Amino acid sequence: FKYDEPFRPLYHYSPFFGWTNDPNGMVYKDGEYHLFYQYNPYGSVWGNMTWGHAVSKDLINWEHKTPGILPDSEGTIFSGSAVIDKFNTAGFGKDAMVAIYTNDGDRQTQNLAYSLDNGKTFIKYKGNPVLTDPNIVDFRDPKVFWDNDSKQWIMSLATTQTITFYGSKNLKNWEKLSEFGEGIGAHGGVWECPDLFPLTYNGKTKWVLLVSINPGGPNSGSATQYFIGDFDGKKFTPDPLPYPLWIDNWRDNYAGVTWNNEPNGKTIFIGWMSNWDYANQVPSVNFKNAMTLPRELKLVNNGKHLVLANPPIETVKELRKETKTYENVSVNDTYTIKNLLSGNEGAYEIEMDIKPEKSNEFSFILSNNNNQQVSFIFDLTKEELSLDRTQSGDTDFAINFSSVIHSPIVKRNMYKIRLLVDKASIELFLNDGETAVTSLIFPKESYNNLTFKSLDKQPIQFNNINIYKLGL
Ligand code: FRU
Repeated sequence: FKYDEPFRPLYHYSPFFGWTNDPNGMVYKDGEYHLFYQYNPYGSVWGNMTWGHAVSKDLINWEHKTPGILPDSEGTIFSGSAVIDKFNTAGFGKDAMVAIYTNDGDRQTQNLAYSLDNGKTFIKYKGNPVLTDPNIVDFRDPKVFWDNDSKQWIMSLATTQTITFYGSKNLKNWEKLSEFGEGIGAHGGVWECPDLFPLTYNGKTKWVLLVSINPGGPNSGSATQYFIGDFDGKKFTPDPLPYPLWIDNWRDNYAGVTWNNEPNGKTIFIGWMSNWDYANQVPSVNFKNAMTLPRELKLVNNGKHLVLANPPIETVKELRKETKTYENVSVNDTYTIKNLLSGNEGAYEIEMDIKPEKSNEFSFILSNNNNQQVSFIFDLTKEELSLDRTQSGDTDFAINFSSVIHSPIVKRNMYKIRLLVDKASIELFLNDGETAVTSLIFPKESYNNLTFKSLDKQPIQFNNINIYKLGL
């Protein structure tokens, strides 16, 4: 088959063949970052859930591996996490890689599989399941980490529309610690794929809880909300913030979680770059769906309150191959740069600074010579950034893919823009990831014209414009 089909990303992870949804079991060990993922090895629609497997030394160049964990008599293998058992608490061996996953069968249960050969092969634990609850139907997606303060493993588990925390000394026996989520955050759908982790802000430890929700996202379908607060080894207490807060307000970043055992103490996140609204229908052929860029999570103040910034990891800059620099553009109407990049094959980055000056409504537009385009529309009065993808290319494959998608932003004197395009995806980062938004696009040929518009005819500047061709 044709691996290199038109919508195959160049620098984002996608399965060699078949379907993917959530990233799973992300863990670092002995020089390698492991990425497992919800995988259908038999076709490019959801089904036969298996843990696919890929490894990378730098989180950018991925090597496809044979699937890690296969369905069994207890059911298919749903999402979960992996840890390195440094103190051999489970007795599988020192430094065993232990996966904690959901079996989806008659019921949903939590189970263990361990690997003594750095993720090449997994052995299912004979005492499975390690956690059941016959009364909860949606009981899944265990994310486990070692809590140094309380000296135990903590599991965050999605339990219908709450997150339940469990504790364990040995990964095998789990005790319920607390439950979070009633009356707070978004509840338009089922809660899935939680992740609880610490981040430092101003020298203090804060805890962040990610919760994916489907449906009920801010622009329809699936999206990932987060809470910032404290965790005392048992209970998560959220700070008073204007919840729901979303890690990415556009439509194509779901079920993301962070790497365990990251060697540089960073908190690195990757999401699934799709939406349950149309993930089974997107027009790629031999594979469906890809992951977002790896992003480093940081707490920052956006001028109003704390938010979870998620810029691309630093080494994404190493993808920059050729640079084209343009003169500063000052407009109070419209200006277009044609043929942005010669030989543009759809993997590129646009970097620029926007100085709104007196303008409160402006946009920039990427277009191709087939009348296909995406508009990025800033409305500073509403404090909103919208994407119009109604004319982006193929939009008819699903009922509501074609849409204008909104995200809140904060009014600033300057926006530092990084926009990364990879064939069928756009990731846009404002001010070092203070706002990060992601969208799928399916253009017939890559967009290669860039238009700047002042919509209220007030002067605005686009400065320091660099276009990079990206490659591995
Ligand atoms: C999220 C999800 C998880 C589940 C998996 C099944 O996208 O629904 O809750 O474990 O996908 O593939």
